[in-house]
Amino acid sequence: MADLSINFCGIKAPNPFWLASAPPTDKAYNVIRAFEAGWGGVVWKTLGEDPPAVNVSSRYSAIYGKNREVIGFNNIELITDRSLELNLREITEVKKAWPDRAIVVSLMLPCEEQAWADILPKVEATGADGIELNFGCPHGMPERGMGSAVGQVPEYVEQVTAWCKKHTRLPVIVKLTPNITDIRRPARAAKAGGADAVSLINTINSITSLDLDRMVAYPNVGGASTHGGYCGPAVKPVALNMVAEIARDPETHGLPISGIGGIGNWRDAAEFIALGAGCVQVCTAAMLHGFRIVQEMKDGLERWMDSKGYKTLDDFMGKAVGNTTDWKFLNMNYKSVAHISQDDCIKCGRCYVACEDTSHQSIFQLVDEATGTRTYKVNDDECVGCNLCEITCPVQGCITMVAVPTGKPYMNWTQDPRNPRAEIKETA
Ligand SMILES: Cc1cc2nc3c(=O)[nH]c(=O)nc-3n(C[C@H](O)[C@H](O)[C@H](O)COP(=O)(O)O)c2cc1C
Ligand code: SF4
Ligand code: SF4
Repeated sequence: MADLSINFCGIKAPNPFWLASAPPTDKAYNVIRAFEAGWGGVVWKTLGEDPPAVNVSSRYSAIYGKNREVIGFNNIELITDRSLELNLREITEVKKAWPDRAIVVSLMLPCEEQAWADILPKVEATGADGIELNFGCPHGMPERGMGSAVGQVPEYVEQVTAWCKKHTRLPVIVKLTPNITDIRRPARAAKAGGADAVSLINTINSITSLDLDRMVAYPNVGGASTHGGYCGPAVKPVALNMVAEIARDPETHGLPISGIGGIGNWRDAAEFIALGAGCVQVCTAAMLHGFRIVQEMKDGLERWMDSKGYKTLDDFMGKAVGNTTDWKFLNMNYKSVAHISQDDCIKCGRCYVACEDTSHQSIFQLVDEATGTRTYKVNDDECVGCNLCEITCPVQGCITMVAVPTGKPYMNWTQDPRNPRAEIKETA
C-alpha cells in the first residue's frame, strides 16, 4: 500500500488531506469528529483579536448544475465569531488528544507588529504545529484593513510574514488571495518575508445570482446583499493555474505549496500534487458532504498510487510542472484529429453542429437516402484538433482525439518561420 504520510514544511501528518480554515474547523466538536473520520490535519477557523466577529444572516449562495449539484459556492462569513481564549483552549485540548494530526492555526490581525507579537506566543502555547496567515478573505475584513487588503499588496505580505517569522518558531504558511492579477508577486513577497510555505487559493470575489423579483443578489440580508467569496468545484481551474504559476516560477520554485480550491475527491488532490502541492485543503466539499468524504479520498489516492507504482507522494509531486509551459513553447508540429466511434455514436448530431457553427466545418453529416439514417464522419484533412466535438458529445469516449504522426520535429512559435516577430529563438 502506498504511504500517504507527509512532512509539509516541518509539519507531519498521516495523510495530505487537511480541512481548510472555515466552519468545519471552527470548534473542537467539529475537529475531533473530522480526525475520527480520518483527516490528516486541519487549519483552524481564522482567529483574530477580541471582540470576536459578528456575522449576518443569511450567508451563503450557490450555482447549481442540472441535477442540483453545487458547482460553485459563495459566502459572506467573517473570521471566527468565538472568543480567542475559547478557541485557544480548545486547540490545546484537541492537539493533546490527537498528537499525530496536523493542527495549523489561521490568523488575521491588523497590520501592526505588536498585534502579531502579542498573539503568537499564545498560539505557540497551544502546541499547534504551524500558523497560516489569512491574507485572503475578500469580504468584510478588507474594509477593516485585513484579509485580501493585505494579500493584494506584496509589500504588506512580506512585512507581516517577516514579523511572524521574528515572533514565532512555528512554520509560517501564507494563504494567498486569488483576487489579484499576478499571483506570483504575493508568493514572491511571502518567500522574501521568510514564509515556510504558501497556501492557495482563498475565495474569489463573486455575486452568484440575483432574486429578480426583489432585485437583490443572494445571499439576501434583509433586502440587500454584498459580494462574497466563491469556492467549490468551479474554482478548481483557477486554483490549479495559480498553484502551477508559483511552482513554475524560478523565484518561488521549491517553496512548499498547500493546494486549495474545489477539491472534492482523490483525483482533484492528485492533480494539485502533480502540479507541485505538498498537501491539499478542502472546505466546500466537506461542508456539503460531511467529513466522511476523506475516506474515499484516501482510498482512491492509495489505489491510484499503487496502480502507478508510486510509493510515496514525493514520487509524483510536481511531476506535471515541467509539462506546464508558456504557449510559445508548445510544439507547432504536433497534430491531433477527432475520431468518432461509430459503435458508440447515438447520432444526435451535436458534434456536427458544434464543428459546423464554431470550428472548422470538418464533420460530414452523411444521410442514407433509402433509410434516412445519419452518419457522422470527421474530415481528417480539415480537422484542426480543437476538441470541441469531443467536449460536446454526450457519450463519453465516443469521440477521441488521436495524435497524427507528422514526421516533423519539435518546433515552437519562437522558431516558427510563420512568426513575423521571431527574432530570438528560444527553447522551453
Ligand atoms: C463559509 C466559508 C468560510 C470560510 N472562512 C475562512 C476563514 O475563516 N479563513 C480562511 O482562511 N478561509 C476561509 N474560507 C476559505 C476556505 O478556507 C477555502 O480557501 C476556500 O473555500 C476554497 O476551498 P474550497 O473550494 O474547497 O471551498 C471560508 C470558506 C467558506 C465557504
Ligand atoms: S476537433 Fe474541432 S475541428 Fe476537429 S472535428 Fe472536432 S470540432 Fe471539428
Ligand atoms: S455528438 Fe457524439 S453521439 Fe452525437 S453524433 Fe456526434 S459522435 Fe455521435
